[in-house]
Amino acid sequence: MAERIAEEKINAIRQSVDIVDVISDYVQLKKQGRNYFGLCPFHGENTPSFSVSPDKQLYHCFGCGAGGNVFSFLMEVEGLSFLESVIKLAERANIDLQIEASDVSKEKSIPKEFQQMMEAHELLRKFYHHLLVNTKDGQHALEYLLSRGFTRESIEKFQIGYSLNSWDFVYKFLTKRGFSPSLLEKAGLIIKRENNGSYFDRFRDRIMFPIFDRNGNTIAFSGRSLGADEPKYLNSPETAIFNKSKILYNFHLARPSIRKQQQAVLFEGFADVIAADHSGVENGIATMGTSLTDDHVALIRRYVQSVTICYDSDHAGIEAAYRAATMLSEAGLQIKIALLPEGLDPDDYIKKYGGDKFRHDVIGASMTFMSFKLLYYRRGKNLQIEGERLQYIEEVLKEISMLDNAVEKDYYLRQLAAEFSLSLEALKQQVSITEKRMKQGKNRNMQNMHTFSAFKKDQLRPAYYTAERCLIAHMLKNSDVAYKVQELLQGHTFNIDEHQAIITYLFGFYEDGHSPDSSAFINYLKDEKLKRIVTDIAMMSINDEISDQEMSDYIKQVLNYQKMLKIKEKELEEKEAERQKDFARAAAIAMEIVQLRKSL
Ligand code: CTP
Ligand code: MN
Repeated sequence: MAERIAEEKINAIRQSVDIVDVISDYVQLKKQGRNYFGLCPFHGENTPSFSVSPDKQLYHCFGCGAGGNVFSFLMEVEGLSFLESVIKLAERANIDLQIEASDVSKEKSIPKEFQQMMEAHELLRKFYHHLLVNTKDGQHALEYLLSRGFTRESIEKFQIGYSLNSWDFVYKFLTKRGFSPSLLEKAGLIIKRENNGSYFDRFRDRIMFPIFDRNGNTIAFSGRSLGADEPKYLNSPETAIFNKSKILYNFHLARPSIRKQQQAVLFEGFADVIAADHSGVENGIATMGTSLTDDHVALIRRYVQSVTICYDSDHAGIEAAYRAATMLSEAGLQIKIALLPEGLDPDDYIKKYGGDKFRHDVIGASMTFMSFKLLYYRRGKNLQIEGERLQYIEEVLKEISMLDNAVEKDYYLRQLAAEFSLSLEALKQQVSITEKRMKQGKNRNMQNMHTFSAFKKDQLRPAYYTAERCLIAHMLKNSDVAYKVQELLQGHTFNIDEHQAIITYLFGFYEDGHSPDSSAFINYLKDEKLKRIVTDIAMMSINDEISDQEMSDYIKQVLNYQKMLKIKEKELEEKEAERQKDFARAAAIAMEIVQLRKSL
């Protein structure tokens, strides 16, 4: 693929985008000194160990070791091939690559069959939408939607459609356009009859909500019955292109707003997302009628630190909100809960009271997770009864002990003391006992984490390891230094094979006429492991210049190790000679050893 896009083009693209910009689309970065830091998108963590260097145009995670340049980042985070990442960035940089889309699909890691499934969905989405808004067949469906308060604007924006009341419309429409029945069946659009093997359409006489992936491809549908028919919502089955536990409804449209507001609003249903969007809450997303999964949480956490949960106010909704809030807050997100009056879902509420009131009195008045817990534990308890009251107080105290913030702790303790006429002192005491118990458990984990991540790795490395890395770091920055090191090595090699491979490539890179540029060098390398090591090294903070003294010290450490190995080898030889009673040889070897030791 490198043959297809000229290297100059790739470099031009790399130079015209800023890695900080690109990564900011996925990770919230904060500047600290010369670099930016954030939570690593490649592994779960609560404290930022992911850093991006604008000077070097590289990223690196100290926690999981991920790292590379802007292309590697997109490849990893979006699961793209190298070519796809180049194309994506070219678009961003407005650089014309002059390659055909068909070239890309050939290269794409996405199998052709998946592409066709998406194409089928795409065609169908357009046709369903056309049926709803332009045809007599869809008129009753359009009227139903409008009577429910959906606006034409929303219908357009969310590409809502209508599926005809026919058993074979989709079958005919798509097979006529060259899609094979078996592909359409795999895509979940048609179903095979068991008795005679013929096919029928999955969705008939329903309002069709297209489901998009993050890139805006249509990958599934959810069809709502008109009126009271069951099931109310019929979803596409899980397919090769549609995985419910990874998809969030409206994520592709909400993404810009989510990023801008640093906040997402999580709803239970499509209708809620759409109604909220129309009232100006454009950062709404929803799961696909399933409960929140770890994959959803990971996706959300890439974009925001704060989520407002706005679920139905019925029993199931409250339980689901509690569960979602717990999962999200365990992933390190700030949680707010927007509560609705009993019996209403967000869509109902907006219809009844209007969008302004929804924005101000519901979203705007959302409560902290702790306040929500106070209500949550109260449900189903009669606090007039002493036993239930004590149980409630105990549950709440446990939650309060887990708060990080002392002011918050104090606030809720006072509230509890006031409500149940308890002594604040007694409550505080109880909390500190619980805290101590929890800390004992927690500290043990923290200690383990520390030794294994940051410290252990580097402190236990031999001196030559660090020396070689420092030399490479300078060699990456300055080709004169590189050649000087080569000279000083006098034909010897680095002790660590990967380090030696890297400098060998680096000389090739310079020989080819490239100037020092770590990010370009990473593209030049083909081996993933070497790329990572180079990134790791390039991200080290070193002085701009290296003195001759420093350089020869490092070289000495590199060579000394080899001499040490040599000495060990000689010592064995010497012993062997003695064993064979060849004392002359033993003496000669001993001399060599003395010489070697001297040169250390
Ligand atoms: N859902 C589903 N299958 C069902 C019922 C619900 O997949 N049989 C999912 C849908 O994604 C729906 C969400 O669960 O959006 C919430 O369900 P519900 O609250 O019952 O629906 P509403 O969103 O309120 O839809 P409507 O207002 O059209 O009744
Ligand atoms: Mn509803």
